[in-house]
Amino acid sequence: MKKQRLLMLIGIVFFLGSCSNTASEMANEDPDPTDCVPQYPEMDITYSNYVKGVLTQYCIECHHEGNSQGPGDFSTYNGVSQYLGSFNTRVLSNNADMPQGNAPLPQAVRDSLMVWIANCSP
Ligand code: HEC
Repeated sequence: MKKQRLLMLIGIVFFLGSCSNTASEMANEDPDPTDCVPQYPEMDITYSNYVKGVLTQYCIECHHEGNSQGPGDFSTYNGVSQYLGSFNTRVLSNNADMPQGNAPLPQAVRDSLMVWIANCSP
């Protein structure tokens, strides 16, 4: 009986140990969530075939490398991917305020960006 308890304790310690290991490994990974499941797999909207063009047309003038009005550099995939978390409120929602000071993005463009993000931003 005592032995069993000891084994269980050792088991728990190992379990906790492996948990904290995974957590620190995950912290080193890209923010890209590996458990993301594309919501519209039949739609082929990618960064290179669509999104880059939109960002170039509407956003890069203020979100570029160096001394720019807005934060980040939206001219590369890695640059813009750090800001996708706030796209919903700032770019896609009905009270979106980007592109700042300009007309809101056409609904079709917003829909396409929504699909792209829902597809795990390929
Ligand atoms: C005329 C300049 C201008 C344009 C054009 C513009 N932005 Fe911005 N953007 C800003 C500024 C300045 C900020 C930072 C101040 C703020 O958050 O309001 C900002 C902030 C943001 C943020 C929030 C960043 C954060 O810190 O989380 C997002 C997301 C964003 N812009 C996306 C876009 C997208 C997408 C476009 C193109 C559709 C765009 N912006 C076009 C000036 C601009």
